[in-house]
Amino acid sequence: MPVVIDESALGRRVVVRYRRTDPGGAPPLSDVVGELRAIDQNSLTVRTGRGLRTIPVSAVVTARIVAPDRGRVLELERVAARGWRSAETVELDGWLLRANSGWTARGNSALPLATPGRPIATMLADVLDFYAARSLHALIQVPLPARGLLDAELAQRCWTIASPGVVLTKVLPGGEPPAGTGAGVSVVLESGLSPAWQAGYHARDGRLSEAARSLLGRHENVRFASIRTGGETVAIGRAVVDEGWAGITALEVGEPYRGRGLAIRVMVALERWAVQQGVSHAYLQVTATNSAALGLYRRMGYAEHHRYHYRRAPGERRERGAPGERGAPGERRERGAPGASSADSSPAKSPPSITP
Ligand SMILES: CC(C)(COP(=O)(O)OP(=O)(O)OC[C@H]1O[C@@H](n2cnc3c(N)ncnc32)[C@H](O)[C@@H]1OP(=O)(O)O)[C@@H](O)C(=O)NCCC(=O)NCCS
Repeated sequence: MPVVIDESALGRRVVVRYRRTDPGGAPPLSDVVGELRAIDQNSLTVRTGRGLRTIPVSAVVTARIVAPDRGRVLELERVAARGWRSAETVELDGWLLRANSGWTARGNSALPLATPGRPIATMLADVLDFYAARSLHALIQVPLPARGLLDAELAQRCWTIASPGVVLTKVLPGGEPPAGTGAGVSVVLESGLSPAWQAGYHARDGRLSEAARSLLGRHENVRFASIRTGGETVAIGRAVVDEGWAGITALEVGEPYRGRGLAIRVMVALERWAVQQGVSHAYLQVTATNSAALGLYRRMGYAEHHRYHYRRAPGERRERGAPGERGAPGERRERGAPGASSADSSPAKSPPSITP
């Protein structure tokens, strides 16, 4: 029977149609929807809302991957926000308004985790005010397709798309790491942000800003991984463990050292640490155009969970009307210039960098 999924679907949401074997079972076919937890040539096991279900492969009619539902997407986004904590996170009607002196888009954007119970125009006006008060250009991180309707609203109001990203997930431990030339290299794991680790971040020689350092260290269960040779930091990564998830961020290998399996080594060390913490899933966020990172993560067994992009407020000036009138769609207060490339943190006046 055509089972059109294999081990690469572990951890993904699947729907399995199978032939019922219980005597007199009617209807003859039934469906199971949930996370694929195990698969081999004899059976597959799916975690459903009511526990684990194991189905013999011989009974399977079809099996395929389906997109995670809206609730799961937003839940993972909530967890991911906990792994990259801004200096300020204000909850407003189900949205998280995050600000971190402009350092990273994720750290300085609103995350719409719920549909607010009031008109979108007033919600957006509050978002604009929040960022204006911090001299930041308003950005909204839109998880897709979970917040597709909001995305359409923002498009209509001329909020422009910036920096599409992909969220990838994997079930841990996820088997043996791929063999690579980095085998045998030792990885240092630290619970604090050392100068040596910082030296590997965007080759900034340890000159990360205070806003960046604070955000990276702002977690009660974080590890910083680095590979050092001859006094030089050649590869780094960071992981947090939170609510049953491991979140891997800030993975970077110095340019001259790429293509030697070092990123794999760093990721394996972080994943092993997470497994020791009892974690069974990992997530990553990556810019959709970063083919090297996407290649690496796929090789490590990660699969796409969902996508997102940022919507950036239009730059026009918005005049605020009388109380209750939040201005017509598309009317905005002036902000700073759009952000672009560097993950460096500059003081609040500077635009947010566009890294996921
Ligand atoms: C992405 C990055 C960390 C990879 O580091 P690396 O040490 O060169 O990666 P590895 O040598 O461990 O490569 C492991 C696998 O990743 C994939 N990969 C690595 N570089 C790749 C590239 N340029 N294109 C496609 N796949 C690539 C390959 O599958 C590779 O295995 P293979 O060499 O057997 O084919 C590195 O390119 C980097 O630091 N980039 C800039 C920072 C960045 O983008 N970080 C990720 C942020 S989400």
